[in-house]
Amino acid sequence: MDLKKTFQECFGHEGVLYFSPGRINLIGEHTDYNGGFVFPGAVDKGITAAVAANGLDRCRIFATDITDENSHVEFGLEESDKPAEHWACYIFGVCREMIKRGVGVKGFDAVFSGNVPLGAGMSSSAALESTFAFATNDIFNGGIDKFELARVGQDTEHNYCGVNCGIMDQFASVFGRKGCLMRLDCRSMEFEYFPFNPQGYKLVLLNTCVRHTLGGEYNERRASCENVVAHVAAKHEGISTLRDVTYDMMEEIRSEVSDTDFRRARYILDEKERVMAVCGALERNDYETVGRKMYETHWGLSHDFGVSCEELDFLAELAGECGVTGSRVMGGGFGGCTINLVRDELCDSFIRNAEEKFCTRFGHKPEVYEVVIGDGSRRL
Ligand code: GLA
Repeated sequence: MDLKKTFQECFGHEGVLYFSPGRINLIGEHTDYNGGFVFPGAVDKGITAAVAANGLDRCRIFATDITDENSHVEFGLEESDKPAEHWACYIFGVCREMIKRGVGVKGFDAVFSGNVPLGAGMSSSAALESTFAFATNDIFNGGIDKFELARVGQDTEHNYCGVNCGIMDQFASVFGRKGCLMRLDCRSMEFEYFPFNPQGYKLVLLNTCVRHTLGGEYNERRASCENVVAHVAAKHEGISTLRDVTYDMMEEIRSEVSDTDFRRARYILDEKERVMAVCGALERNDYETVGRKMYETHWGLSHDFGVSCEELDFLAELAGECGVTGSRVMGGGFGGCTINLVRDELCDSFIRNAEEKFCTRFGHKPEVYEVVIGDGSRRL
């Protein structure tokens, strides 16, 4: 779709194009809001928007991918102007968060479309937030740095969309770099680009097409982690996240918390160690270890953290049976994709197998995407 043309036809003036990507994450799941490490990369799929100021005090937005009457939304910029359409809340939230940071956001027109599959665990919502954070910062001379743009997206989720997410998705979308994964320390926000070109392997996503929506269940996982931290902090000074908690400390509070909370928190401690092991393995080009850790993450997320589902478990198990190097649920969970590290020569047969067997079991094929790691937020 030619967004500039559509913009011109809709609004009678000219829009500027902005893009932000979705993301993958190699390992480090649900660690971001626990002060841990994550290993994401931006993908070549994302949200593109044509945007321009309109000289009014209202925003007029056209979502070209929506085919019913909810595709056009108009809203003002006061806190009380929150639109009813869920998708528009992301853009409204971004505007409000920019305004809270002192940016003089005024009315604008926008047309946007995207190619990140929705509800697939690839952060279509972060792509949307980052696109509008970047665009409003550019158009209204906000002078907000990239870290803060990522936080604008995160705070939008917290304050306008009901998801108490961490910083990984928005960070990856804003900071992505072609061909590189990023190791981010979510406590210090220090990060490093890791060129990722695993010779002889491919990263393939299999989308169960079980639409995941993050909300209550995600927030509950976070609350479990915070509850365990509170119990440990009552006994030890200087503990503010699970990052600081050891297995011994966990044992001390075992009888004080529910088994569910305990297992969820223990998963986070395990995942902390796995991320470190993967960093070491990547430095040695040891992808077999990377893959093994991915499986461990999957089964930890499934059995202990409780964010998998039947379809995801089926795909991870099948990957194991097919000799795939690594496979696990990616992102928040509750549906969406598995990320698979597959040896080149196994790729075609694995995908064929997965399509057939998944279809026999669930009545439809999973969608398959080969991962291409791309650049972050930008003006096109
Ligand atoms: C979602 C959240 C992220 C992160 C992941 C799980 O994508 O938005 O902040 O917590 O889930 O790793």
